[in-house]
Amino acid sequence: MSAPPLESAVNHTRLLNDKRIMSSQDSSCSRAEDIDARTRKRPRNLKQTHFFTSVRKTICSECQMSYVQHLRSDRELHEKYHRRAIEGVELGPTNTLTWNAIEQHQLKSGLDGKIVEVNVESSKEISVAEELLDIVNQVLSAPKDNRGWSSDPNRGKVFLFVIRNKAVGICSTERITEGKWMVYDTGELVPKQKLPLIIGISRIYVSHKYRRMGIGLRLLFAVQKHSIYGLRLTRYQIGWSQPSEFGGKLALSFNGVKHKSGKMLIPIYEER
Ligand SMILES: CC(C)(COP(=O)(O)OP(=O)(O)OC[C@H]1O[C@@H](n2cnc3c(N)ncnc32)[C@H](O)[C@@H]1OP(=O)(O)O)[C@@H](O)C(=O)NCCC(=O)NCCS
Ligand SMILES: [Zn+2]
Repeated sequence: MSAPPLESAVNHTRLLNDKRIMSSQDSSCSRAEDIDARTRKRPRNLKQTHFFTSVRKTICSECQMSYVQHLRSDRELHEKYHRRAIEGVELGPTNTLTWNAIEQHQLKSGLDGKIVEVNVESSKEISVAEELLDIVNQVLSAPKDNRGWSSDPNRGKVFLFVIRNKAVGICSTERITEGKWMVYDTGELVPKQKLPLIIGISRIYVSHKYRRMGIGLRLLFAVQKHSIYGLRLTRYQIGWSQPSEFGGKLALSFNGVKHKSGKMLIPIYEER
């Protein structure tokens, strides 16, 4: 059975918690009614007692999912989700040879992988990409990303890094026209300078187990080469949407530039 998508997993947890809170409130109310029914009198000086059950949630420092540690169903849900965030998302029983591998790579560690451009005609490929993007948004505490790519490849693309039968990395992009330089250290924008950009990195993510093996950079090289048919973009035509701590480090190594002041700048844009 395939694992539930992230949103439903998280909603399920919320639902469970809501139900638990409701039922603890219900039980305190029914006690007052029971006393009333037994004595058949209006109870005097009866103070309603509220029992507050504090549901202590644990937030996993790796996958950021919040769950209730002492509840088995919650723990199991987290384990399932955690595994996918750390090790990648299964492509499923579909014959992966039909997935459009545009590049083959051997990593420093000796592992073989390939880059797949998600085919928007394939609902399976879209659902794997969306599942991974939901994980990224959860990990980054980011809002839902622009999914224009799923209806029109001219609005953006998604590249997956696949090892064996799992998608372990993802990069989703969108077409943009301009951005700005951002000072890496301070996050300040360089004023009065518009930067012509063509592609924005909406989300990029590599599963924990496969980080620092060069997958992030390889995905970015694929964006350079395969975003626009017949055109290889320069690094400086690609911008970042609100780079995270690690995203900023990857950005520095991919398309950071040194300003005459000595400060490092990275190209960023505002995601719509
Ligand atoms: C950012 C992320 C995609 C990088 O993926 P990755 O496959 O580990 O990156 P690479 O191995 O290609 O790194 C290339 C270079 O970027 C820099 N870099 C990447 N991650 C770094 C880190 N955690 N610390 C320091 N430098 C880092 C290094 O210069 C690295 O080269 P090196 O390993 O030879 O030193 C990954 O850390 C991730 O998914 N993080 C969580 C999600 C996230 O923050 N996404 C970015 C949103 S903007
Ligand atoms: Zn976790």
